[in-house]
Amino acid sequence: MSGISGDAGKRQRYDDLAGQIVGLLTGEADVTANLANAAAAIYASLPLLNWAGFYRARGSTLVLGPFQGKPACTRIPFGRGVCGAAAKQRQTMLVPDVHVFPGHIACDAASQSELVVPMIHNDILLGVLDLDSPVLARFDAQDQAGCEALVAVIVSHVAEPV
Ligand code: SME
Repeated sequence: MSGISGDAGKRQRYDDLAGQIVGLLTGEADVTANLANAAAAIYASLPLLNWAGFYRARGSTLVLGPFQGKPACTRIPFGRGVCGAAAKQRQTMLVPDVHVFPGHIACDAASQSELVVPMIHNDILLGVLDLDSPVLARFDAQDQAGCEALVAVIVSHVAEPV
């Protein structure tokens, strides 16, 4: 990945970011505050993003949460688009080219690739972390592992239901 010097450098970046997020979230129980700071830290730390943020599960709909980037669609039914697929299947979606993903929702025309990680706590889907990039195939398996680790840290610090 350009902008990140090799696998070790990328892993270090995710480790550093996880530590930063722990520092930001520890001692604060407000979910909006915590998700807002997590989105800001991710957007500021990871290169080549044009959107980073959260959608929260409300029934069988995802509702826009704290994010960084351009304004986005506010409600996504489970099963629609990349975020809805991640929510419905409770699985990370790594999409190298959003234009060939069935039902992709184009909130920002600049987005070319996307990574969506479900947030699950005690078997309850809380929402998803969504990252968009203006670069094709921006995300690889290491990004997936790194972002899943970030989500684990974030979920463990979310003290009240989101
Ligand atoms: N592209 C997403 C919609 C959310 S925006 O990217 C912020 C999707 O297809 O689910």
